[in-house]
Amino acid sequence: MSLPDGFLDELRTRLSIAQVVGRKVTWDTRKSNVGKGDYWSPCPFHQEKTASFHVDDRKGFFYCFGCHAKGDALTFVRETENVGFMEAVEILAGEAGMPVPKRDPVAQKKADQRTVLAEIMEQALQFYRMQLKTNVATAARDYLDGRGMPQVIQDRFEIGFAPDTRSALFQHLTGKGIKPEDLDEAGLCVKPDDGGSPFDRFRGRIIFPIRDARGRCIAFGGRAMDPNARAKYLNSPETPLFDKGRSLYNHGPAREAAGKAQSLIVAEGYMDVIALAQAGFDHAVAPLGTAITENQLQLMWRMSPEPIIALDGDTAGIRAARRLIDLALPLMEAGKSLRFVVLPEGQDPDDLLKASGAKAMQDLLDAAQPMVRLLWEREIEGKVFDSPERRASLDASLRTALSAIKDPSLRNHYTAAIKELRAELFAPKHGTSTQQNAPWSGGWRNKPPQNATSGLKSSLLGQKTATDTTRLREALILAAAIRNPHAAVEHETMLEKSPIAAPDLIKIQSALLALLHMDLSEDQGSGPLIAALTDRLGFNPMDHLMTLPPVRIHPHLHPDADPELVAMTLREELVKHAAIKGAEAELRDAEEEVEGLADEGLTWRIQQASEARANATKADIKSGGDGSEDRENLSLNLQKMIDDQIWVKKKG
Ligand code: UTP
Ligand code: MN
Repeated sequence: MSLPDGFLDELRTRLSIAQVVGRKVTWDTRKSNVGKGDYWSPCPFHQEKTASFHVDDRKGFFYCFGCHAKGDALTFVRETENVGFMEAVEILAGEAGMPVPKRDPVAQKKADQRTVLAEIMEQALQFYRMQLKTNVATAARDYLDGRGMPQVIQDRFEIGFAPDTRSALFQHLTGKGIKPEDLDEAGLCVKPDDGGSPFDRFRGRIIFPIRDARGRCIAFGGRAMDPNARAKYLNSPETPLFDKGRSLYNHGPAREAAGKAQSLIVAEGYMDVIALAQAGFDHAVAPLGTAITENQLQLMWRMSPEPIIALDGDTAGIRAARRLIDLALPLMEAGKSLRFVVLPEGQDPDDLLKASGAKAMQDLLDAAQPMVRLLWEREIEGKVFDSPERRASLDASLRTALSAIKDPSLRNHYTAAIKELRAELFAPKHGTSTQQNAPWSGGWRNKPPQNATSGLKSSLLGQKTATDTTRLREALILAAAIRNPHAAVEHETMLEKSPIAAPDLIKIQSALLALLHMDLSEDQGSGPLIAALTDRLGFNPMDHLMTLPPVRIHPHLHPDADPELVAMTLREELVKHAAIKGAEAELRDAEEEVEGLADEGLTWRIQQASEARANATKADIKSGGDGSEDRENLSLNLQKMIDDQIWVKKKG
């Protein structure tokens, strides 16, 4: 029985162990220091003349330096009076003037009732076992044979059979004096609403007894043999003995085997656990027809620090695994984690073992994936990250998932792992040089959007289309600057700071900056500059830039274009380029900060940056027409963007 909380502590505080012991021994007054609660005497537990038995009255403990007997007042009474624990409590409580609480009558009744029910379950189990051997169970035995379940395994899992009659079990057990109400409460029989006589819950089914960790039979699972049966499996209802969410199939045996195997397998069904045991994997459990609960997870972790979840390779199994992630994340800590086995499509462990054998199962178990991998796959599956917004929303959902991990150290490790997976996903593809994708190979403007899979794999910032547009803009800037060197001088700083990416364009940019201050007369136009650049570069930069159709046909980049319009083009392109590059840098920064958990500002910043980018590209490069009105609007827009410095990361 259990005593109320704090009762024993109270008892120990009230008692003087020196007083309790003092009745049995004679203190060595010279050695003892009563003022300090230090008492010494010859030991009552072994023969001796010296005083090597010590009592610390303040701490309430005794210890013999000779025979090493030790304990508290309760131990002392039990050992010297030869009584049980409760009797010792009663003796000492009487001395201390503390009434021993009577057993809680309600709790007592419940405990007694559970004992009664467990005994009934045991008798039902024996009945089902017996039935499987009789001639009403021919089909059942054939079924088990057909599923390849040998006798030893049937015995080990105590497989039984519930005959297909209305009340065989009811008759049998009531005949043995068991009360019908108890059969009802054990979930074995059902009382019809119309007041008719009770009937058996399990009829015409193979019976799988379910025992708790202590070995008590607490429930049954019953499998129909007819593939068209309404319910393939029928399980015991919740009873005073059976709490589905706190029970696991094969709990006791698996707990023992898990210690030896240093592992635990969690499958979905009875047949999986049995097939696994048959193949030598004794360390397997299954929940009982419901989603895995928190309590079941804790039970599993008590058996193994990293249970391997081997759910069926179907959508339901995968969905169950993913739900389990949400359940597990907040509960995980060092030594409490999960791994997942992904079974081949449409197979459960039973099917796999039948089809491919134990080695295949072991290989799968060895390749079990850490939970972080499943979490990642769950977050990215079926999604395309072809826009900053989508990527920001991925980051947000990743952060939410990560922040569910309460254990700080584990959260850090998860974050690092996720970051790696994320970098992998967004890494720009290698081997696609700008040259290969040169926009002058044509069709740059009407490139079809990337398809879903490549969108998933490639970086937004490294996208071919983005690169092409960037290169084009850089070419426009350089061409305009060369056409109007005076405007270029005016915007020298921006020109210098413009982050140009393509190596050939960088060459032109630095040559231009080097030659920008050569003596240029108004009326000579850009001729002398182009000549000087050609000299320096070894090729004519304008010819090179003109290979890009949009540059070639741009109305403001002709040799005889109005210098004012050239200047305007230069300004616009410089500003747009800065806005885009700034936004991109901001996005990159923000991405790097994905590990900063639950940073609200981060998502906001990514949005701002991508909006800025969108604005900058909205009125895209015009290649024809006058469009003076558009230009005015665009200029206003750009001016506002410059004023706001939208691409600059705002701290604080
Ligand atoms: P499955 O449908 O995967 O069955 O259900 P199984 O374990 O592979 O069984 P076999 O191989 O067809 O005989 C997995 C578990 O879900 C519960 C049972 O606990 C079962 O073992 N279940 C399933 C039910 O409770 N009721 C059902 O109708 C079906
Ligand atoms: Mn199965």
